Amino acid sequence: MSQPNNLSSPVTLNSGITIKNRFVKAATSEQLGDKNHDPKPALSTAYARWAEGEVGLSISGNIMIDRTALGEPANVVLDEDSDLNKFRHWTRSATKNGTHLWAQLNHPGKQSPSVLSKNPVAPSAIPLELDMKGVFNTPKALTEDEIWVLIDKFSHAAKLAKSVGFTGIQIHAAHGYLISQFHSAKHNQRNDQWGGSLENRMRFVLEVYKAIRKEVGDTYPIAVKLNAGDFISGGFSEEESMQVAQSLADAGVDLIEVSGGTYESQAMVDPNEAPIKVSTKNREAYFLHYAEAIKQNLSIPLIVTGGFRTAQGMLDAINTGATDFIGLARPLMLYPDLPIQAMNDKQATFDVKRPTTGFKKIDKTLMVDLAWWEEQIHLMGKGQEPQINFSPWLAVWRNFLRIGAMAFKQRRV
Ligand SMILES: Cc1cc2nc3c(=O)[nH]c(=O)nc-3n(C[C@H](O)[C@H](O)[C@H](O)COP(=O)(O)O)c2cc1C
Repeated sequence: MSQPNNLSSPVTLNSGITIKNRFVKAATSEQLGDKNHDPKPALSTAYARWAEGEVGLSISGNIMIDRTALGEPANVVLDEDSDLNKFRHWTRSATKNGTHLWAQLNHPGKQSPSVLSKNPVAPSAIPLELDMKGVFNTPKALTEDEIWVLIDKFSHAAKLAKSVGFTGIQIHAAHGYLISQFHSAKHNQRNDQWGGSLENRMRFVLEVYKAIRKEVGDTYPIAVKLNAGDFISGGFSEEESMQVAQSLADAGVDLIEVSGGTYESQAMVDPNEAPIKVSTKNREAYFLHYAEAIKQNLSIPLIVTGGFRTAQGMLDAINTGATDFIGLARPLMLYPDLPIQAMNDKQATFDVKRPTTGFKKIDKTLMVDLAWWEEQIHLMGKGQEPQINFSPWLAVWRNFLRIGAMAFKQRRV
């Protein structure tokens, strides 16, 4: 076995905490919330498996801060009605081996399916532009008072997260959810202090950050997952994103994770589904080009997520200084020992294909991709290993049995 490489070197963040290596399990919505939206025991088992694989930092799937605003039917929610002991069980298992577990806090805004939210909220009353009619209702524009209530809910969820043993927080400001809607000039057409100029559009994320910081103190890490861009006409641009990242760093955020896209342009999982430059698509990781540009001025560490599939690609990204951490979602769902393998073998590769039934239309209608990936987490949650040859049809069937027919209407696009 060769010597461990730089992927194994630790990083200390501004808040003083150290992540033991460069591997980050990016957030993956698990659909393992129970009837009360508390974590099922399977979450503990799956996250313990990632900790055994030596990942330095695990970020939970998006945890909702408001139980009247869900992104998916089996989301976990953290609020005053949560059973905190179930969360403690999860955080204890997930943090073995010195692995960090951070809670990703989210509000879906208008990306809450119509069966879950009759009256979703958003910065402005602008519907999503999707070809799946009726799946998402036109949102209601938030009032100023409602905005402050939501900021309060974010900070309350963060306080609870700290109390139950999460070792940090990640604010989900990417992928077209509520905070990301505030950033976008297309989705945020307010003319008060929360809309208009970029300074106003980024006020919501900054206020959420400040409120959380006040609750958790200076020695507790807070990260933000930020879009490098929305990749839709009139949406959040790369230049704007860089300014927001700088403002977040100036405000005291510990770490920024770079991703991109929204339900309208799904760059986060496939750059071919978004109008991204060919030079960017040709890189192993989709957002390296952005990371390299922003790194020149940014004083805090970055996680780049999306596309990493080879140990060499990961090592190059760290050694060239393009990123400080390697964010991995699908590869870790198939190869939970990836960190150990990549640290010991530069030639290691982690093949990830989009699961398909062979029929594009069926894949889209039945959301095969999502069901298949979640099935991998559910296998891990049962103490089994992931199965690369798992049948896409079986994934859809199990998903159907688990969540019911409604799920197919309710789930994300
Ligand atoms: C099944 C699934 C669930 C996901 N859930 C979340 C989530 O809850 N929060 C989030 O920020 N990103 C989520 N993502 C996006 C991933 O974190 C990541 O940005 C994306 O998959 C690209 O990384 P990869 O190429 O390593 O998979 C999810 C992706 C998949 C495939």
